[in-house]
Amino acid sequence: MSAADQQSADLPLIRIFDTTLRDGEQSPGASLNTSEKIEIARQLDLLNVDVIEAGFPISSPDDFEAVKAVAGVVQNAAVAGLARCTDKDIRRAAEALRDARSPRIHVFCATSAIHRQYKLKRAEQEILKLSVDGVTLARSLVEDVEFSPEDASRTELPFLSEVVESVIAAGATTVNIPDTVGYSTPEHFEAIIRHLFATVKNIDRAVISVHCHNDLGLAVANSLAAVRAGARQVECTINGLGERAGNAALEEVVMAIRTRADVYQCRTRINTRRIYPVSRLVSTLTGIHVQRNKAIVGENAFAHEAGIHQHGVLSHRETYEIMNPQDLGIPASRLVLGKHSGRHALRERLQQLGHQLNDAQLEAVFERFKDLADRKKEIFDEDLEALVGQLLEESTQARQWELVSLQTTGGSGVVPTATVRLRDLCSGAVLTDAATGDGPVDAAFSCIMRMTGREAVLREYDLRAVTGGGDAQGEVNLAVEAGGRLFRGRGRSTDIIEASALAFVAAINRAIAAADKPRGVRPENGT
Ligand code: KIV
Ligand code: ZN
Repeated sequence: MSAADQQSADLPLIRIFDTTLRDGEQSPGASLNTSEKIEIARQLDLLNVDVIEAGFPISSPDDFEAVKAVAGVVQNAAVAGLARCTDKDIRRAAEALRDARSPRIHVFCATSAIHRQYKLKRAEQEILKLSVDGVTLARSLVEDVEFSPEDASRTELPFLSEVVESVIAAGATTVNIPDTVGYSTPEHFEAIIRHLFATVKNIDRAVISVHCHNDLGLAVANSLAAVRAGARQVECTINGLGERAGNAALEEVVMAIRTRADVYQCRTRINTRRIYPVSRLVSTLTGIHVQRNKAIVGENAFAHEAGIHQHGVLSHRETYEIMNPQDLGIPASRLVLGKHSGRHALRERLQQLGHQLNDAQLEAVFERFKDLADRKKEIFDEDLEALVGQLLEESTQARQWELVSLQTTGGSGVVPTATVRLRDLCSGAVLTDAATGDGPVDAAFSCIMRMTGREAVLREYDLRAVTGGGDAQGEVNLAVEAGGRLFRGRGRSTDIIEASALAFVAAINRAIAAADKPRGVRPENGT
């Protein structure tokens, strides 16, 4: 433990409630299957979050199964399931959480005038009764019950205080104050929390939590303002994923509290060295790329471009770095392995990067590593991350189609053509077809659609180099719309057309996997 960590051990604890698997998964196109959720939950547990919100069990059979599976694997954190204030929702959540070591039911009911009038069509006293009844029922099923007055930041303060006091009296152990539509500002949100502490008589019997959305880019600032006012739990997501503009980013909240303990005078239990690996995992499995200049985990977060900054960092790191990248688990050295490196070196480097692979997984990564080393002189950490990410994606994603090979022609005066070979993983059959298009990428996409029998419209396409250098791998992140829903895919290769085709096949596989599943309800749809 460093001197700074020792000093902060006496400070009040801020609980970190991670909702990547519930609110984060509500990001358009970010849907995760059960195996992916389990993988992320395991990593969140290693990160030492206090609570993992695993899903909304009533919303679909898949969500129920995912919450149940996560509840079964998490060792340390409490596992929460979301429920509206209805008998059915609450009992379903309790059932999904049966195997959890520390189960928490999170019930919510909208309280603002606009939600009461237009969404729920209920009067204040009815909302109050629903909330109290919901908490009472949840408390009869589990010890740990959280209540959220949805759209709290737009709720009349006297009514908000009345609801909070009543649900605490009914047994809520945590009361969470959501800024559901990201409307609040730090001054406004701090004032709401201070008002609750000043007016709710039994407030000391519950933990006050906050849950901020990022519509005005203020989710982290609002959460921290609430901490200054006495909130002791912050709800957040990895990489700030979430509905619309997302939720407060866990890594930003945690690092602000740690780096500016002088201001916030509190601490979290987060093992910060696990932050970067979890961020990479979530980005890989959701297919949502982290923007380069994203605070804490973006590629540029610790890159110094200006010569004067580089000189400063080399002579004394703290001249221009307020955090140590190693404290976040960002690997120090970037150049790692080459063509002649063996399994042992690979395993060791992967371990340093935070990946504990079993023998079969290591063998699979090693084969791909050798293949890549034939195409590329130097293998960097980012290349290894990409190989592991690809393996995890393939082993957790239900896949029907696999790209076997791709040949394209393009250039001026030629009709762009793609010849594609795909393997149907259900029957083992290998199909070959060819198509033309506006360019080789378009030709490959048209061909894949025809072969798989799936119509999809390309909505997003992003190409970036995984590392520097002319022989770098290209990484394509794309989103397609199929059947009114958005599906993401990622592909990497030293050939960018192949990377595009791999990403397109991945998105089509997700669309196929989702096609037969009911869509379920989202929290904003109900009572
Ligand atoms: O944003 C919100 O209000 C929510 C609640 C369900 C807590 O996500
Ligand atoms: Zn939310």
